[in-house]
Amino acid sequence: MIVKMQSSYMRLRLCQRFLPGLIRGRSTDIGRNIACRSLSLSSENAQASSSGVNTSGERPQNESTQRRTLHGVAKQQILADGPELPTCDFQPNKYEGISYEEAKQVRSESINPALFTYYRNPVMLHQGKMQWLWDVEGKRYLDLFGGIVTVSVGHCHPYVTDALVKQAHNLWHTTNIYMHPAIHQYAKDLRAKLPEHLNVIYFVNSGTDANDMAMQMARMHTGSYDVISFRNAYHGASPNLLGLTAMSSWIYPTPFGFGIRNTMNPDVYRGLWGGKNCRDSPVQTNRDCDCTGECMAKDLYLEQYADVLRYSTAKKIAGFFAEGIQGVGGTVQYPRGLLAEMYKLTREKGGVCISDEVQTGFGRLGSHFWGFESHGVMPDIVTMAKGIGNGFPLGAVVTTTEIAATMKEALHFNTYGGNPLSCAVGSAVLEVIENEGLQANSENVGTHLLLELAKLRDEFEVVGDVRGKGLMIGMEMVADKETRAPLPADEMLDIWEDTKEMGLLIGKGGFYGQVFRIKPPMCITKDDADFTVAVIRQALLRHRDRQAKK
Ligand SMILES: Cc1ncc(COP(=O)(O)O)c(C=O)c1O
Repeated sequence: MIVKMQSSYMRLRLCQRFLPGLIRGRSTDIGRNIACRSLSLSSENAQASSSGVNTSGERPQNESTQRRTLHGVAKQQILADGPELPTCDFQPNKYEGISYEEAKQVRSESINPALFTYYRNPVMLHQGKMQWLWDVEGKRYLDLFGGIVTVSVGHCHPYVTDALVKQAHNLWHTTNIYMHPAIHQYAKDLRAKLPEHLNVIYFVNSGTDANDMAMQMARMHTGSYDVISFRNAYHGASPNLLGLTAMSSWIYPTPFGFGIRNTMNPDVYRGLWGGKNCRDSPVQTNRDCDCTGECMAKDLYLEQYADVLRYSTAKKIAGFFAEGIQGVGGTVQYPRGLLAEMYKLTREKGGVCISDEVQTGFGRLGSHFWGFESHGVMPDIVTMAKGIGNGFPLGAVVTTTEIAATMKEALHFNTYGGNPLSCAVGSAVLEVIENEGLQANSENVGTHLLLELAKLRDEFEVVGDVRGKGLMIGMEMVADKETRAPLPADEMLDIWEDTKEMGLLIGKGGFYGQVFRIKPPMCITKDDADFTVAVIRQALLRHRDRQAKK
């Protein structure tokens, strides 16, 4: 183990020793990135048909590590050649912690084995600054996934970090049985971002916490039990929420989903119905459509919901859950106007409407601060997490005075919910979104990125659809544009691994893992967007070459 640790550390030293000129001044990071990136590739990797993908799917072993000579660097730079990363002045610290090899061993032996790890050669990230991440070898990445749509305003954003440190020096913790300033200030700040009737806030620690609570609220308030969500939705993975999360990949073979029903996913690209005018996005599907006025797809999906209510629920229901755009499900957008009509049907059946803003909230969609606003609907309960705390564990449920009143029937308490640290962070995040114009930036950069990615759909057979709003973007990959059959997993992985080798981190989602997900910190620039498109294009060209050689 000691030998392995040394080899990892030596790579870093080698990089610093032989490339001092590159590790200085403005060109520093590009130089460091190219140098460290190349050093971190094995020569086998580089020879894998210039794809930068290790054909064995394994991290390079000691034998190849020994071949990391400067000569090798030059060669690999050419073979793994990707677009140049936008510049960054920040200098990461030298990494001195647990070695990559040891961490991998600990992970395989002692950390949740049902946890998937991104990439065949997983990255071990050590430091972050705004839209940038560095791995333990000093390689820089543009983070277009924000730790699963969580880092909203930028990694270690200085203003948010200062607020956290200041609070940490004053008071780390006290629960809400006492009064402390941070929770009251934050409740005031958050409330100001919401419609007037949504005025009671419950602070929790995660999106799962929030949705658990929202489901309970809906049932308590209505006195009914049935709750409906879309198939392909993800709302959390607690035993209580399985069912609401309607993807078999998350479901254990134990009893689940009592009182939960799912309705057809109104996916206008992959679903039964959808056309070229359905969705609220700068990019439409390439499916034909005969609609002249009202959207037929909307009516057909609505009819499916009416059927669920007609046949599968009690006469009165508790509520309906939906995201404005499905996140984990693969950036799925519904036909315009559908949610408004589903809300209406829900209320006719006595239910309340719950908007899950865990991914869509806090300005990410650009045009609006909340996903529900982009659908022109008014929910009764809103759940939040992820971007709310820029990566700090924080979640919230916001509802009306009337609904909150019904929850007083029993005590409700959450030890860490609304703790001083998370509330200080929450307030600072809201200030940054406002002061730095991040919602407008999501709109501008996001629209630019969407339109540029749409060109890739026209250029490549494997890109079936590009969609989204603001900085919530999906790119669905297909084996066949006509049938929309998902691109096989190994081809997805090759392309994905390649983007990572070129310094770009993007996510993956959709039921078949067929959608690349782009949901970065909202501080990214147009240069970052252009780099992203260039990297994805390069990876797609390489994929096309590989397929041609088969
Ligand atoms: C839309 C949505 N709701 C709820 C959750 C659950 O949030 P958490 O992982 O914080 O419990 C997630 C997580 O990805 C999510 O995307």
